[in-house]
Amino acid sequence: MRPSAIETLPASSLSPRGTYWITTFGCQMNKADSERMAGILEQLGYAAGSGEDEADLVLYNTCTIRDNAEQKVYSYLGRQARRKRTNPALTLVVAGCVAQQEGEALLRRVPELDLVMGPQHANRLETLLAQVESGQQVVATGEHHILEDITTARRDSQVCAWVNVIYGCNERCTYCVVPSVRGREQSRLPEAIRLEMEGLAARGYREITLLGQNIDAYGRDLPGSTAEGRHRHTFTDLLQHVHDVPGLARLRFATSHPRYFTDRLIDACASLPNVCEHFHIPFQSGDDALLQAMARGYTVDRYRRIIDRIRERMPDAAISADAIVGFPGETDAQFRHTLDLVEAMGFDQVNTAAYSPRPGTPAALWADQVDEAVKVARLQELNAAVERTARQRSARYLGRVEEVLVEGSNPRDAGQLMGRTRTNRLTFFPADGHGPGDLVPVAIDTVRAFSLSGHARP
Ligand code: SAH
Ligand code: SF4
Ligand code: F3S
Repeated sequence: MRPSAIETLPASSLSPRGTYWITTFGCQMNKADSERMAGILEQLGYAAGSGEDEADLVLYNTCTIRDNAEQKVYSYLGRQARRKRTNPALTLVVAGCVAQQEGEALLRRVPELDLVMGPQHANRLETLLAQVESGQQVVATGEHHILEDITTARRDSQVCAWVNVIYGCNERCTYCVVPSVRGREQSRLPEAIRLEMEGLAARGYREITLLGQNIDAYGRDLPGSTAEGRHRHTFTDLLQHVHDVPGLARLRFATSHPRYFTDRLIDACASLPNVCEHFHIPFQSGDDALLQAMARGYTVDRYRRIIDRIRERMPDAAISADAIVGFPGETDAQFRHTLDLVEAMGFDQVNTAAYSPRPGTPAALWADQVDEAVKVARLQELNAAVERTARQRSARYLGRVEEVLVEGSNPRDAGQLMGRTRTNRLTFFPADGHGPGDLVPVAIDTVRAFSLSGHARP
């Protein structure tokens, strides 16, 4: 899963508590947490505000996956801290991964803050705000058992929803800050997950993405697991348990870890009609020695075999991934191996990033850091390769009819709708009486690297 552009929840009218504003940085986990926190705020009597500089409560749900993500948060906070000096009634909250990483240190840096709360505390927002109202400055970053939340999340989309299935991550990838900010793995019970999905389907949602930082770890911590590491509630079992929720048209999941991705899962995806033919499986590097230094626990060959197997069972499947350039010690030849893998696999999309040393991670302390200029050059070269292969992959859609699930209007052209193919390609087409939630067969007449256009087939 990958940090996306800053997204902000929309505005509406006034209410007894005043208005709130949430800005979300980072990955879908944060996005899902923000939707739950927005639900809690609305239940408390806050209404969605029209802008962050007018709201009575401002909450930043933060990301620290790379240094630039973290720095962005401080610049936003600086502005609100200044506003609070003239408007002491403003409630200022930092949630998410920077909150967890920095804890009390954030209060020293921004003393105007009312509440600093880690991701495991998202469902406790009401309790924490009550403490703030009693006059305290609150820091909630302790390890916490995540409780099932009874609040209805305030979701951005009325068509697609996220459902967490496992929180946290027990891996120890040497570059990654996630385990230290998201805590130990905590799987939700299959029954609770299915219940939430049924509720969503009953409210009209057509597509659900099941979420976990390492979704293949699902169930390891649930009762029934054996000492040998076998367990009864694997992610594949979960898919079997939830794939047929009535009313749902599509099911997706992310993020998959190559180390744990099983043939059994591939077979289940191929045989369950609602599970979409799109897999997000980060490889991080195309070089075995680097994969080992990253402690990823697989080889390039194993990764290739997974993709081959997926394509054997689902020839049209789309594959996306994440990759890092400039990991400590990465030589030019090793970087070429990453380029080779991108060229060879034909990815539909790859999220790329320059390695950023993170506090508390082993690789940040290694002596053989790669020069920033080298990282930038490699990133550019990799991005060009990614775009080339994405364009080649898009070409296969030309002249085809694809089932598109409409999510809303094209933000750049109100006469057009926007949706996705089962393989997750963004697709635009003239509305012609269709609307959000419709599954429309679209004849594709224009292909671009990362999106398609066409016309609804009558
Ligand atoms: N759980 C997912 C990744 C979550 S973080 C997985 O195991 O693949 C999302 C992505 O951010 C990662 O896939 C990685 O490509 C990138 N990333 C994580 N830490 C990074 C760092 N220190 N520097 C640069 N990119 C990083
Ligand atoms: Fe980070 Fe690795 Fe866990 Fe993914 S699997 S969140 S990269 S530690
Ligand atoms: Fe996600 Fe960023 Fe936290 S990627 S898990 S919001 S550090």
